[in-house]
Amino acid sequence: MSEKLWIFDTTLRDGEQVPGCQLNTQEKIIVAKALEDLGVDIIEAGFPISSPGDFNSVIEISKAVTNPIICALSRAVEKDIEVAGAALQYAKKGRIHTGIGVSPYHIQYKLRSTPEDIIQRGVAAVKFAKRFVEDVEFYAEDAGRAEADFLCKIIEEVIKAGATVVNIPDTTGYCLPEQYGAIISSLKNRVPNIDRAIIATHCHNDLGMATANTVAGVQHGARQVEVTINGIGERAGNTSLEEVVMAIKCHQSIPVHTEIVTPKIYHTSRLVSKLMNMPVQPNKAIVGRNAFAHSSGIHQDGVLKHRENYEIIDPKEVGVAESTIVLTARSGRAALKHHLDALGVELEGEALREVYEAFLVLADSKRDVGRKDLLELVGKYIDESNFIELEHVHYSSDGEANARVTLKVGNALQVATATGVGPVDAVLKAIETIVQPQVELEEFLIQAMTQGSDDVAKVHMRLIKSDKPYYGFASNQDIVLASAQAFVDALNKIPVKEYATA
Ligand code: KIV
Ligand code: ZN
Repeated sequence: MSEKLWIFDTTLRDGEQVPGCQLNTQEKIIVAKALEDLGVDIIEAGFPISSPGDFNSVIEISKAVTNPIICALSRAVEKDIEVAGAALQYAKKGRIHTGIGVSPYHIQYKLRSTPEDIIQRGVAAVKFAKRFVEDVEFYAEDAGRAEADFLCKIIEEVIKAGATVVNIPDTTGYCLPEQYGAIISSLKNRVPNIDRAIIATHCHNDLGMATANTVAGVQHGARQVEVTINGIGERAGNTSLEEVVMAIKCHQSIPVHTEIVTPKIYHTSRLVSKLMNMPVQPNKAIVGRNAFAHSSGIHQDGVLKHRENYEIIDPKEVGVAESTIVLTARSGRAALKHHLDALGVELEGEALREVYEAFLVLADSKRDVGRKDLLELVGKYIDESNFIELEHVHYSSDGEANARVTLKVGNALQVATATGVGPVDAVLKAIETIVQPQVELEEFLIQAMTQGSDDVAKVHMRLIKSDKPYYGFASNQDIVLASAQAFVDALNKIPVKEYATA
């Protein structure tokens, strides 16, 4: 059996420091429970001295979760440590994470101190923290730019003082993987009592190296990784949990395993993104919406023949229902046939060739070919009775929001009204009244294209129907209209047979 790699999640501390990502205590508890379900070993729940809200969150998270160790951050200052200890009073297993800057920058310019004094303060902090909890983690802030002999010395001394985990942060995201790996190796080889503590990585992503550095750290002997969901965190972010976990799962040459329940990754990623109002970039590894989307003809053909031709991870392994074959001008005949089959239109030979040629002409003039377009292309072969068009939208919002929507479904005009918490909610509800698709609206993003008040809103939606994702896109100066158009766009991509069973 390989060695265990401890997963230390700091989404609720380093991740939550990001402007605009702040959560209230209830939301933090929801995230903490999701992290527990995901199988993380340690949850860094906050920095209790920083605010009464953070103090309270650590208390409530400690009560709400059972299995993970709950960790509270502090500086190497007695008052901080005392407050962290108090915040952990209900934790079934509590850890204090204390530390101090160790690079020449931090020692000279931030702390205006000397190396000897820094060692003494680090040691005193660990000893003081031991009065509250047995499990004390020491962080050597900015270790990525520290002087090697000094780093070895302070780590030796804090372990003597009782540190159970020694965290080696690349606080500024400066290191290259080889350098970071060498730092971990030098600690393993030169610190005489290193076997008495676990070495932790804590990497930031300023040069896009956080995952690579973390994996290098593990390859050189680190056995705890400090990570966040979706890689959120200060500046360019922290190491992303999902990337490290899947890199380790994919590469059995790395002699460690984690206890992460990987099929829960995608759900946890969406939950954090939604609660923190932090969209996941479409091309983000593992959890981005394009992570399992194939758009070029050669790749689509390859994936349809055998998934592993172009995928190193089965999407189900991380909780994504299936790969997506996106229809664009670069799609091949296999991809078109795949989509037509889903629409219930089985074309072969000459008929398929004819539709494919028409498809290529259309795809050259459109970024994304949807269900509506396909239905038009194969009109003579099928019944269009389910195709939806947005004819008219009227909404008002005066206290309660009201909407009146006219849709053309097939050839029939249908009207519905609805109320909602806001105009978008009211309009989507009215559309649902007519179409009754029984879908889950899983993701709903509105982005401004520029920054002015006359801006165009770009809406992206992800609907789930029978465990499969369907995407809708639209842009309009009117956010409500753009939302309605994106909803209808996604509904039109759901195969006819799904409506039939709704
Ligand atoms: O990046 C860093 O150095 C930190 C420490 C407080 C652990 O977040
Ligand atoms: Zn950090």
